[in-house]
Formats: sequence, structure tokens, C-alpha cells
Amino acid sequence: MAIAKSAVLILLFALVCNANGAPKLPRIAGPDMFKNKNVAKDVLLPGEQIINVMDFGAKPDGRFDCTQAFMDAWQKLCHQTTGPARLLIPEGRFLVSSMYFSGPCTCQTPVTIQVKGYVMATTDISEYENGDWLMFEKHNGLKIIGGGTFDGQGKKSWEYSENCESGADSVCARNPSSLFFSDSSNVVVQGIRTANPKGFHIFVTKCTNVRLRKLKLVAPETSPNTDGIHVSHSDTVIMSRNTIATGDDCISMIQGVKNVFINRLKCGPGHGISIGSLGKYQNEEEVRGIRIQNCSLINTTNGLRVKAWPDRFAGAASDISFSNINMQNVRNPIIIDQEYECYPDCKKKPSLVRIQNVHFQNVKGTTTSPLAVDLRCSKLFGCQGVTVRDIDLKFGDAPTTSRCVNTQPLFAGLLMPPACA
Ligand SMILES: *[C@@H]1O[C@H](CO)[C@@H](O)[C@H](O)[C@H]1NC(C)=O
Ligand SMILES: *[C@@H]1O[C@H](CO)[C@@H](O)[C@H](O)[C@H]1NC(C)=O
Repeated sequence: MAIAKSAVLILLFALVCNANGAPKLPRIAGPDMFKNKNVAKDVLLPGEQIINVMDFGAKPDGRFDCTQAFMDAWQKLCHQTTGPARLLIPEGRFLVSSMYFSGPCTCQTPVTIQVKGYVMATTDISEYENGDWLMFEKHNGLKIIGGGTFDGQGKKSWEYSENCESGADSVCARNPSSLFFSDSSNVVVQGIRTANPKGFHIFVTKCTNVRLRKLKLVAPETSPNTDGIHVSHSDTVIMSRNTIATGDDCISMIQGVKNVFINRLKCGPGHGISIGSLGKYQNEEEVRGIRIQNCSLINTTNGLRVKAWPDRFAGAASDISFSNINMQNVRNPIIIDQEYECYPDCKKKPSLVRIQNVHFQNVKGTTTSPLAVDLRCSKLFGCQGVTVRDIDLKFGDAPTTSRCVNTQPLFAGLLMPPACA
């Protein structure tokens, strides 16, 4: 079994390009196939084939290794089927190892995976040397739906988690993400849960037109580096009505992310919504056009955060707006931090990241520290075009304060804390 499995993995690995070494692929762009369609609706198309993992030897007992069965079912769906078809993971508990679900497929798009059951990751971390747990690559049209759960069974690997943020210089071994999407366009992930990932719950990179809706992502507050949704190098990502309770950022967006809309997120516990860290890598692509609306953050360490490394590489983040945000018990509700991991008393050279046009509007609720608005920008560029409007953040009966370093925001409307002096 072990040999058969590694043979399958090697074969699949050979079919796709190495996530690290291979030359960069051109981005798959093109029109948004879900535009103006009701993506919430799932109907079987006329003649749609249902490819059930049970018919390929999967056993729903949570102990039998179903990797081969899943791969055989996927092979049939993706490479031996034309016309509409879906992969069905029915109710039951299915144990599976690291797998590639690589496109393009021969079946009609969107390629659909319907998960009703509870899919569990194997716990031997040495099986994950290709990077992540379930890897979806090179699709144009992919739908993951069905109300089921992906459980990364991460507890054992959390003990070995390296903090890739603090060790900015070192080559850091990231723990496997549960769902990894790369080089794909027109992706919908909807109405599923992920629990206890080894690393991130969901990682999106080099993708366009992605919708992540009605997801429930859960891990203990103490689990290390378990970001909810981590996005890099992607254009047009819409995340709506998600609930995220995890040990790191609920949503983090780093270099090359453009045109993101986050709506009705419930975040907490966790580290809030982060843009950055930026300026970490050489030749970073800019971050532009991030709109975050109607979200609530409860018991999080940070709320709305832009973070950049001092004394490192150039980068840029612009056209970012946060509006209609409710906070409860948030330690740093509004924060721009260009002295990331260097504060206080940072003696390093200033950050080379340009931050422009960042808007905080209608942010209300409670904090667990008096410094509710903390904007610390680079001495070199400052932060241009920052606005802070209608803020009402309370710290019990004590007053809240704001601080502005190397930035002169436009303050307007009702302000609690008051504007920077
Ligand atoms: C956000 O909330 C406001 C006020 O409740 C509402 O008018 C607006 O339509 C909401 N926006 C979205 C995108 O849901
Ligand atoms: C937030 O923390 C408080 C105090 O620890 C706790 O009572 C409450 O249930 C938490 N709320 C959520 C939504 O986690």
C-alpha cells in the first residue's frame, strides 16, 4: 500500500510542475465564468455523471487510507470523462494523505467536487514533502461544495511549527495548508468547513476570479500559523460570509494581491485581518484595491492591520478601505505597523514599503488596550492619503488614544479616540 501510494504520488507529481523549482507559469486569466450567475445554487446538470469515491475502494471508517481511491476517482473525473461530472465524497469519515488535483481536466467545467463527508489528513508529516495537503492546480473552473469538512489533524505538527514571520531571513518550512489553490481561475469554494489545519486553512496563490463563500474555518486560538485564508499573487478574490476562528490571521494578504472584496466576515479568536507582512521578499509585487466591509472581529489580537518590515525590501500597498466594522475585545483595532517585529525602539533603517490611500471608516466597538488607532509609517515615505472617519472604540471607562508617526491622516466625523495631536 505504501509503495502503491508513493508511486501514485510520484506519478502525479511528475504530471504537474514542481511548486518550488519550475519556471513560473503565465497566469491563467480570461473572463469570469461565474459573473452574474447564482453560484450558491447547485443543481445536477442533465447527464451529469457522479463519480463516487466509494466506487473506487474508499472506506468511510476514518482509518483506512483512501488516498489511492480518491486519486483513482479523480483520474476518472479529470482525465477520462467528457461532459458534466462531479466527484462525490459521501457521508462518512475518509482518511487521506497529500494529493494533487491537477488540471486542466477533460470533463466539462467547472470541475465539481461535492464533499458531504468528513475528510481527515494523515498525521505523518513526512508524507507532506510536496508542500500542502490537498493541492488544486491549473484549473479554469473549479467548484468545491457540499457542506462537508476537511480536518487537517494538525495538532501533532503544531509542535514543530516554525514561525516563518519572525525568522524573515531564514528558509522557513511552512506547515502544509489544508486546501491549496494555485495557477487557477474561476474557483468557487462554498459552504464547507475546515478544522485544525497543519498550516493555513486555505492558501490561494497565482489565481484569478476566486470566490470563497460561507466557509467555516476553525482551529484553537493557540494553534501556531494557522491563518484562515492566505492570499498572494492573485487578482479578483471575493470572500463573503465566512466565519473564521483560528490561531493566526483570519485573513492575510501579501504581495501581488489585487482587487479583493471581503464582506460579512466573522473573525475571532485570531489575529484579525492583515495586509502583509510586506517588504519581506526582493522584487515584491504591489498590493492594490482591497475593500473590506461589514465585518466583525471578536476577541482578536489585531483588528485591521497593515504590516511591513523595516530595513528590508521595497513594496507598495494602496487603495485599501475598511468600512462598517464591529469590534469586541480587540487589542489593536486599527494599526499600520511599518516597524514589524522591531517595535518598540526600532533602530533599523526605515521600511521601503510605500503605503497610500488607506481608509478606515465606521469602526465601532471595544478594545482591550487604550491605544486604539496606531499608525506608524516609514520615515522614508510616510503613509499618504490616510483617512480615519467615524471611529468609536471604547476601552471600558478609560479614554482611548491615537498615535500617528510619519503620517498626517485626514480625521473626520465622530472620533473616539480623538484625532492625533
Ligand atoms: C453593509 O452594511 C450596510 C449597513 O447595514 C448595508 O447597507 C450594505 O448593503 C452592506 N453591504 C454589503 C456589501 O453587504
Ligand atoms: C470572547 O472572550 C470572552 C472572555 O474570554 C468570552 O466570554 C467570549 O465567549 C468570547 N467570545 C467569543 C465569540 O469567542
